[in-house]
Amino acid sequence: MASSGLVCETDAWKDLKAHVEDIKKTHLRELMSDTKRCRSMMVEFDGLLLDYSRQCATVDTFNKLNKLAEEAHLKDKINLMFSGERINITENRSVLHVALRAPRGSVINSDGKNVVPDVWQVLDKIKDFSDRVRSGAWVGATGKPLTNVIAIGIGGSFLGPLFVHTALQTGYLDAKDISPYPEAAELASGRKLHLTAFKPIYKPEDSQRVSGKTSRLSNTYFPFLPVISYFPFIAVFLCKSLAIVTAAACFLSHLFVCFYGGGLGVYAVGQFVNCLANVDPIDVARNITGLNPETTLAVVVSKTFTTAETMLNARTIREWISAALGPEAVAKHMVAVSTNLTLVEKFGIDPNNAFAFWDWVGGRYSVCSAVGVLPLSLQYGFAVVEKFLQGASSIDQHFHSAPFEKNLPVLLGLLSVWNVSFLGYPARAILPYSQALEKLAPHIQQACPDDPVSMESNGKGVSIDGVPLPYEAGEIDFGEPGTNGQHSFYQLIHQGRVIPCDFIGVVKSQQPVYLKETGNNPSNIEPRKLAYTGELVSNHDELMSNFFAQPDALAYGKTPEQLLKENVPSNLITHKTFSGNRPSLSLLLPSLNAYNIGQLLAIYEHRVAVEGFVWGINSFDQWGVELGKSLATQVRKQLHASRKNAEPIEGFNFSTATLLTRYLEHMHR
Ligand code: F6P
Repeated sequence: MASSGLVCETDAWKDLKAHVEDIKKTHLRELMSDTKRCRSMMVEFDGLLLDYSRQCATVDTFNKLNKLAEEAHLKDKINLMFSGERINITENRSVLHVALRAPRGSVINSDGKNVVPDVWQVLDKIKDFSDRVRSGAWVGATGKPLTNVIAIGIGGSFLGPLFVHTALQTGYLDAKDISPYPEAAELASGRKLHLTAFKPIYKPEDSQRVSGKTSRLSNTYFPFLPVISYFPFIAVFLCKSLAIVTAAACFLSHLFVCFYGGGLGVYAVGQFVNCLANVDPIDVARNITGLNPETTLAVVVSKTFTTAETMLNARTIREWISAALGPEAVAKHMVAVSTNLTLVEKFGIDPNNAFAFWDWVGGRYSVCSAVGVLPLSLQYGFAVVEKFLQGASSIDQHFHSAPFEKNLPVLLGLLSVWNVSFLGYPARAILPYSQALEKLAPHIQQACPDDPVSMESNGKGVSIDGVPLPYEAGEIDFGEPGTNGQHSFYQLIHQGRVIPCDFIGVVKSQQPVYLKETGNNPSNIEPRKLAYTGELVSNHDELMSNFFAQPDALAYGKTPEQLLKENVPSNLITHKTFSGNRPSLSLLLPSLNAYNIGQLLAIYEHRVAVEGFVWGINSFDQWGVELGKSLATQVRKQLHASRKNAEPIEGFNFSTATLLTRYLEHMHR
């Protein structure tokens, strides 16, 4: 590395700058005709297939990028991360989210201490707690099981769990995910909640809000309900007439109550996780509407336990619970996930009901800590979430040990550097052809300008040593599931700006196409009887047709010559021309179970790290979010003073003062 420490001064960087001119001379159409090249740009790992042959790059480009990685000391930096070195130097912290999913018994040190046993202690505590809530052993202040969960958090304490929660929600998980958990098996088979004769115990809205998971709880409240059906029999028997007939009738009535009412002492209730992030009262209202505090568990998720929005929302929910059930109910209805257990206790949550994590976990990398594991275990059961952790861990090990030319996160990271810093494409579209992945792009981009995995990590203006960057770092990430996106912004990516795209496809859909015929049993999926339905292909094949077609449309485009041959009128030729030569990559997942979702998450997390390591920035701090927060503090004080004591607006520029005046006038009307 050159003396300034900036990667742009390395020979490899300069070489790549010169190489751009060669690449610009070659259209992707031409590159795609070289089968040997294409074959070398496909990598498989643990069931995943990455095809990056549609990048505007040659084998030579990759040799040069590898050289850049070498000169940027990428391997050393990855090793330092895994070794627990304090690579987040501006916060003096290690970066060890990989320890959160390390197998029990492995060793990962931070400050000379193996952190894996601590991780597993919390995981075991989560398993125990979520099992008790799900089984009904843990009940609320009035003795009712807690069937609804509100997770309160923002940024990394919200978007990661939301992504995984949404991805798992469809209900079909691979059989290997679910064996120990019958309730997960029900979820896997796509079964919906059945609330039977106990509806009166739960408010009707409880049942309406339930989605996805079905949990079976012991019938603690009315174990003797079926016996009621014998009362007439007893009465008649005492009268010594029509005893046999009445006994038979009562027995039938018992069976009826058992199966339709109590299910032989077991009834089903639904569990539902809401995610409350925005301090906007609309979000609070939407989250609690229809919920009953008696059956609700609130999980306050905040690394610092100081974040203004989360704490205000937590106080609101605490008030909602206390008002209905009394202040002592908070102990049964509120738990916390945080690194700051002192503040958790001060807030009024029993420290025994707090789930710790550590300052070596960055907020946006925290979904594999209690931040995500607790709410997800409450919803899906710990066994399912454990599979998710195992998927992420598989990628961690691969990232740590695979040679760069076969290393998925490294390849993806180097491609991003190539596209951003050399080809000059500042944005990236994340396009999963799966509705279950609808929250992937928001998690990676984290659209609230609050806590992007990618944009918060790499949206930096200085190097890790504080030197202003003479090159662009970071990308503008955005995305939408296919095919929805095709009907909105794809026009721009086909004929407007060049935006490298990540196409993510899934071989086996989460949703069996043939629900009725297979009895919702995912292990019994049959190919659709096309002749019978009259459709050409199944829904999933239709979706995937687009997944396979779009990358070629971007790469090859359509020339005026082709259009002329098709007799397109001359006035439309330019409108219908597609320049092509637009890069993309395709990632094909075997299915979308918890394991694969963990893999996907880790790939994106490590890709961000690779980019940051090569650009020479600190991907693990987020000072850029502080200024706005501190200005909000000043405004908050002004609003308080003006509303309480009618104090005049002072200390703001003309524009802000005018807007504040209008806001306060309106509020006072
Ligand atoms: O504003 C950014 C940020 O600090 C993130 O890094 C973090 O995930 C989010 O806010 C929420 O913070 P906390 O978990 O401490 O409430």
